[in-house]
Amino acid sequence: MGKVVLVTGGAGYIGSHTCKRLSLAGYLPVVYDDLRRGHADFVKWGPLVRGDILDTESLMFALKRYSPDAVIHFAAYAYVGESFHDPLSYYRNNVAGTLSLLQAMKSSAVQNIVFSSSCAVYGLASTDNIKEEHPHSPISLYGRTKSLAESMLQDFNYAYGLRSVSLRYFNAAGADPEGEIGEHHDPETHLIPLLLDVAAGRRSHIDIYGNDYPSEDGTCIRDYVHVADLADAHVRAMEKLLRGNSAASYNLGSGHGHSVMQLVRAVERVTRVKITVRITPRRPGDSHRLVCDPSRARAELQWRPEFSSLEDMLDHAWHWHRKRFNVLR
Ligand code: UFG
Repeated sequence: MGKVVLVTGGAGYIGSHTCKRLSLAGYLPVVYDDLRRGHADFVKWGPLVRGDILDTESLMFALKRYSPDAVIHFAAYAYVGESFHDPLSYYRNNVAGTLSLLQAMKSSAVQNIVFSSSCAVYGLASTDNIKEEHPHSPISLYGRTKSLAESMLQDFNYAYGLRSVSLRYFNAAGADPEGEIGEHHDPETHLIPLLLDVAAGRRSHIDIYGNDYPSEDGTCIRDYVHVADLADAHVRAMEKLLRGNSAASYNLGSGHGHSVMQLVRAVERVTRVKITVRITPRRPGDSHRLVCDPSRARAELQWRPEFSSLEDMLDHAWHWHRKRFNVLR
């Protein structure tokens, strides 16, 4: 058997794409997921261990059984809006859950971890593209939990020599180019799948959360990055850890910003359906502009996104969306 990687949250959106990429690179991804928010049918490239991230014993059992060379940790709650209303679940799953995993890794002498972090750690960023040195100042509870987990990794590195990489994604987009897996949240709160729902006739319109931001059309700017390229960055980051490097963080994004209205227009072009929009008040926790400076990942991971056009991302997402939800148009 080749090298084994334990992937917590591997039945989710970015986790499952990373498992596919790991498998293509010759690794066996073992998914650890409780399937509360993940999908059993997204686990296709290795075994599934069904378990809760807070269950340290069960994690230790999985680590003992499979003796992975590294862990990639996705298991977390990831709705910015929900995080404000349910801090208990967010601190439990994202902070205590990460601690439970680190405890299990320490007891099992597994030394390498790639952590799924977020640009949400930066909070209200400046107008410049964001570098890794930008101070952490999260404006959502979700962002705070990711920042706390990153601090834990640094402390475990200092005290116990745990090697870690934190990957701070900007807005994951698209789906597997071969259409095997894609984005499916329940409930759905993310812009692209909601726009595709409107195009598919599964929703009547999209609410746009504010058009009075300081951007050209007044809507928020985000940096969309293809999920397959994110998956590739995880494999690169893990391989860097396996070569003995430690404690780094990388921003993962395209380096280009698109407004919410530009997304609406792009979805109209790809799907050839007119999208009905409704302007509503701003959503708490939204920063007006989050755009990445990906130069560190380029230089140190030799990471070059393969699918940098918004049209490619939307095309792959639309293909998968129609298949998943039996859309006829
Ligand atoms: N938006 C709308 N209407 C919607 C949904 C979203 O106008 O129905 C807007 C949001 O206000 C935002 C943009 O579309 O400006 C993108 O929103 P998403 O919910 O798709 O994504 P976020 O930018 O909020 O979230 C992403 C990741 C999070 C991460 C966050 C950091 O999904 O994990 O970036 O801001 F924490």
